[in-house]
Amino acid sequence: MSAFDDDLMADRTVFVAGGTSGINLGIARRFAQLGARVAVAGRNPEKAKTAADSIGPGALGLSADVRDYEAIRGAMEQVAAELGPLDVVVSGAAGNFLAPAAKMSANAFRTVVDIDLNGTFNVFRGCYDLLRTPGASLIAITAGQAVNAMPMQAHACAAKAGINQLVRVLAMEWGPDVRVNGISPGPIAGTEGMARLAPDDSTRAAHYARIPMKRWGEIEEVAEAAVFLSSPSASYVSGTILDVDGGSQLGDATRNDTSKGLA
Ligand code: COA
Ligand code: NAP
Repeated sequence: MSAFDDDLMADRTVFVAGGTSGINLGIARRFAQLGARVAVAGRNPEKAKTAADSIGPGALGLSADVRDYEAIRGAMEQVAAELGPLDVVVSGAAGNFLAPAAKMSANAFRTVVDIDLNGTFNVFRGCYDLLRTPGASLIAITAGQAVNAMPMQAHACAAKAGINQLVRVLAMEWGPDVRVNGISPGPIAGTEGMARLAPDDSTRAAHYARIPMKRWGEIEEVAEAAVFLSSPSASYVSGTILDVDGGSQLGDATRNDTSKGLA
């Protein structure tokens, strides 16, 4: 179910960093369904090609590591040359694993900050003069760890908090021509992130207890939010972080079953 017309993104060029699997691939797919020319990038070239093939004819699948400014800049230059100036850029590449800070190596911490935070700077800085302006839409994929501290997530919490502030600063600096927003997904079914953060039943139950909607999210629901933020309907929305999490960040929703309350 969608509120958007089938050709909403016709004649738009969309680049999704980290768009070769999971939520970001779902975002890329949705823009393509709505008529956009789409390119995705990840580290693994075969995975990128498979992802592009799954999106449809004309989609580009490129190999670039967001930690390497020249590599990701080069990928976006190629996209702009082949598909046209960039209208929408999504920065969604991320790395994560559960690890207690006292046992996390400096390189482990740095690796996640480098992919998530520095990678997002590289993607947004690198695309700046490749954007079609005015009207371009930049979207960072962040997470609840940006605002809610979570054990075993020192690296991801620090990185995603940095992303939220980067979104706000860029929205201020690039304001007239470019809108910059973030999407903070909740636990999304069938994703690598969920498999890593909730690897067993008790962790899954703890995540589930926080969801007022009492169900996992779907990739397509995050994709709809990305389309909204890049649509004319969001023409005055900039510098915001849109939670697509069934209300998960509100706190522990274990006792939200009103049927058990006083009538
Ligand atoms: N626990 C603790 N430390 C870990 C770890 C874990 N589960 N996994 C990796 N590390 C450490 C490594 O030991 C290494 O540190 P060291 O040099 O001190 O030993 C450091 O992290 C970098 O690991 P490396 O495997 O070299 O990094 P990479 O750049 O090849 O891969 C990762 C990056 C580690 C984030 C990898 O998990 C990845 O590619 N993830 C992408 C997919 C993903 O995470 N999706 C979910 C998104 S929410
Ligand atoms: P995923 O399937 O593992 O997607 C990660 C993508 O990033 C892949 O395409 C991966 O491809 C790419 N990538 C990783 N490191 C990269 C690098 N250094 N350079 C370029 N590309 C890189 O993960 P997901 O679970 O769908 O998560 C997607 C986004 O949503 C992430 O930003 C995550 O933090 C956020 N999020 C997810 C959830 C959830 O429930 N899953 C919840 C909140 C937020 P390669 O491996 O080939 O590089």
